[in-house]
Amino acid sequence: MLDAAHNPDTEWLERRAAQFRDQVARRLDGRLTEDEFRPLRLMNGVYLQLHAYMLRIAIPYGTLSTQQLRALATIAERWDKGIGHFTTRQNIQFNWPKLSDIPDILDHLASVGMHAVQTSGNTIRNVTADPFAGAAADEIEDPRPWAEVIRLWSTDHPEFQFLPRKFKIGVTGAPADRAMTAVHDIGLRLVRRDGVVGFTVLVGGGLGRTPLLAQVIRDFLPAAEVLPYIEAILAAYNMAGRRDNKYKARIKITVAEMGLEAFRDQVEAEFAQRRADFSGGGWRDVLAAQRLRFAAPLLVQRPIPTAPATGAYAAWAERSVVSHPRADYANVIVTLKAPGATPGDASAQQMRRLAELADRFGQGEVRVTQEQNLVIVHVARADLRALHRALQSLGLATANAGLGTDIVACPGMDYCTLATARSIPIAQDIAAALRESGLEAEAGALAIKISGCINACGHHHIGDIGILGLDRAGVENYQITLGGDGSPDGAALGERAGPGFAAEAVAPAIVRLLRRYVELREPGERFNAAFRRLGLPAFRTALYPEAA
Ligand code: HEM
Ligand code: SF4
Repeated sequence: MLDAAHNPDTEWLERRAAQFRDQVARRLDGRLTEDEFRPLRLMNGVYLQLHAYMLRIAIPYGTLSTQQLRALATIAERWDKGIGHFTTRQNIQFNWPKLSDIPDILDHLASVGMHAVQTSGNTIRNVTADPFAGAAADEIEDPRPWAEVIRLWSTDHPEFQFLPRKFKIGVTGAPADRAMTAVHDIGLRLVRRDGVVGFTVLVGGGLGRTPLLAQVIRDFLPAAEVLPYIEAILAAYNMAGRRDNKYKARIKITVAEMGLEAFRDQVEAEFAQRRADFSGGGWRDVLAAQRLRFAAPLLVQRPIPTAPATGAYAAWAERSVVSHPRADYANVIVTLKAPGATPGDASAQQMRRLAELADRFGQGEVRVTQEQNLVIVHVARADLRALHRALQSLGLATANAGLGTDIVACPGMDYCTLATARSIPIAQDIAAALRESGLEAEAGALAIKISGCINACGHHHIGDIGILGLDRAGVENYQITLGGDGSPDGAALGERAGPGFAAEAVAPAIVRLLRRYVELREPGERFNAAFRRLGLPAFRTALYPEAA
């Protein structure tokens, strides 16, 4: 069971919240200008967006206790418009808080061991992980104790508060990479070699303006060396990373410009020096404590239902029920993608009810996925029907996990100051078109991902179908990329299909494209496999029939 009492730094969080309360007071009475206030608010995850302030709260490794989920519901209700927005980096964003209320929100978060520190700025951001961590059938080891050690080490780390650019670390404990480690600044994959657990360390991945896949900098690093090694990577980047040009400042550019070998030499030199500082027991005690905190829950043995699944339950079970280490248990995906929904949005009531269901049918834990969905882990298979009924009554039983309507979309022009186009209405249009045409079911597993600008917050580079909204002389225009992959099997970047589309032409183009795919695929062949087999031209003619 996870709860605030296990968070070692509650007192520190309260101090941070009090400090920010004072800064907000000085902004509100004019002692601080917006320019002076800006760096202070960004240190606390507060952005200034199109219509209002936005608060980004970290959900470390995507794991929430039900107590924490209830706290988020309370924040949505009391200080926002009743809605929270879950993001692709296992954060939650609130789009409408009043500045004067944010200190109260931070206090409320501190009371459940949560915060918004380092969710912004050129710092080490929220450490993300496999959303099924600790409940995955294929896991070598639960990655969360490691992710927590990294989080505690990186939070307020004096050396890494002013990096050349933001820094993202993703950790997976299973061979299937559900943490998308290849598109992180540092990707950590737990591996076992000759009975010894270690990490394969990747570096220099990322999406955004220059999308690049990470490269392996260490094929096998004994697990106990992980802190000095990633500290060495950060130190090398902190020195060599470019500060002259914001667009070339991410570590992916440093690695690409220096070459992996030269970068590795610098990291190894730093590592040799820093290693000794980590030889003491301190962090090992933290790891041991976190291993206890994340120990597998005691699950009572339950009968495995033998009755065949039928009707709506069968459709939901097929999409939403994910295997678990135990045959009598499962994990359940709850998509936030009902017809007409804004991808990633959950209402306060939905959060509260889900917390109830996770207490009743799970083990008091909810997860946030990189697809902007939620997961209830450790559900007895014997309870799945009852859980399905309960979810149905909340409008949360949409059976579309992993289908073409389970679309990832950033906030785009509806909220984001950086947006060049809308994302949410495009996602809604496409979902409606896929449902109407029957392609939602017919096309099967499919990842559609949409970003409202080049920054790629909607992960469009790693969608089977990626959509990037741009501004062309004041008109929204959408570029389509094909063949990107963010699936557990591996990452690949999509290929641009051709000229962009006007907003209203996007959904019809996707429908034509998927009709072509359904026509050409071999039985059971996923979109990406068909795309690789047949190549871009076979699909381009469906997107651009007039040019055929
Ligand atoms: C206030 C709203 C937001 C702002 C101002 C913002 C800003 C940015 C910027 C500037 C980048 C590019 C970074 C770079 O390449 O150096 C970026 C990347 C990214 N953001 Fe956002 N973002 C916002 C909201 C979101 C949301 C809602 C999500 C999830 C739905 C998200 C997830 C990501 C991800 C996954 C990347 C990928 C690029 C990478 O690999 O670093 N962001 N964001
Ligand atoms: S991709 Fe662009 S529009 Fe979308 S949230 Fe990120 S910065 Fe904003």
